[in-house]
Amino acid sequence: MALVSAKDMIDKAHAGHYAIPAFNTNNLEWTKAILLGIEAQKSPAIIQVSEGATKYMGGYKAVADLVNDLYNSLGITVPVALHLDHGTFEGAKKCLEAGFTSVMFDGSHFDFEENKEKSKEIIELAHSKGASVECEVGGIGGTEDGVTSSGELANPAECKEISDLGVDFLAAGIGNIHGPYPENWAGLNFERLDEIDKAVNGKPLVLHGGSGIPFDQVHKAVTLGVSKVNINTELQLEFTAAVRKYFEAKKDLEGKGYDPRKVLKPGVDAIQAKVEELCKAFGSANQA
Ligand code: 13P
Repeated sequence: MALVSAKDMIDKAHAGHYAIPAFNTNNLEWTKAILLGIEAQKSPAIIQVSEGATKYMGGYKAVADLVNDLYNSLGITVPVALHLDHGTFEGAKKCLEAGFTSVMFDGSHFDFEENKEKSKEIIELAHSKGASVECEVGGIGGTEDGVTSSGELANPAECKEISDLGVDFLAAGIGNIHGPYPENWAGLNFERLDEIDKAVNGKPLVLHGGSGIPFDQVHKAVTLGVSKVNINTELQLEFTAAVRKYFEAKKDLEGKGYDPRKVLKPGVDAIQAKVEELCKAFGSANQA
């Protein structure tokens, strides 16, 4: 079996009213834990990687080879797409060359006409290679240098214009933000989501910043067209808390507890458990 485009799994989720989880990976351990978790839950899923993480992992080709090889050597049977998260124009092209089966081109920081032009080019290129494409309208806020910006609201008319270019799924700001949500977060803006869903006429939508959004809000978003939910921070928090516990219990000082495979194991197990929990919560479990 091989990695697949994300289009079919997302269209199926859209029609079946559940969401495909898209988990960000950082290394071999992360990738393996995600693959084992989705296989255990019989869930189709997306493994995605930021451009920063691809640099950390040794480049686009190294990432594509790693995910492909683990998919096969672990005997994974559920559909998996390898997706570039928040790609630049050049990065998206390089990923398509390297064998990614899906890319996001994030042109939300360009003025709208430029975003549209560049989105169109990436959509054509990706489709010529059988890969799926996500584009973005209206930035997604987040925490940078300790300052949390509030989530932006995308313009429905602009969403329709990008949707009409033939993008496969669309990220649109609806008050969601990357990273942990502040105490005073206002929640998702369902009014705006409803307007966007109507404007794009049934195009599947993507919910960024999925970590920590209460499940009832995710479920409501799914009824309004969301079919892909991105999760990054939550896996990082789970991993780090589990490894911290290992050191706090001084397990590294017992026998060969310093072996990196032993040190990382609690973190890897914690990622797999969270992946399985989210597949159940998003309704993608047993949909493979
Ligand atoms: P979180 O880190 O908030 O889960 O957001 C992930 C994301 O949207 C990646 O694009």
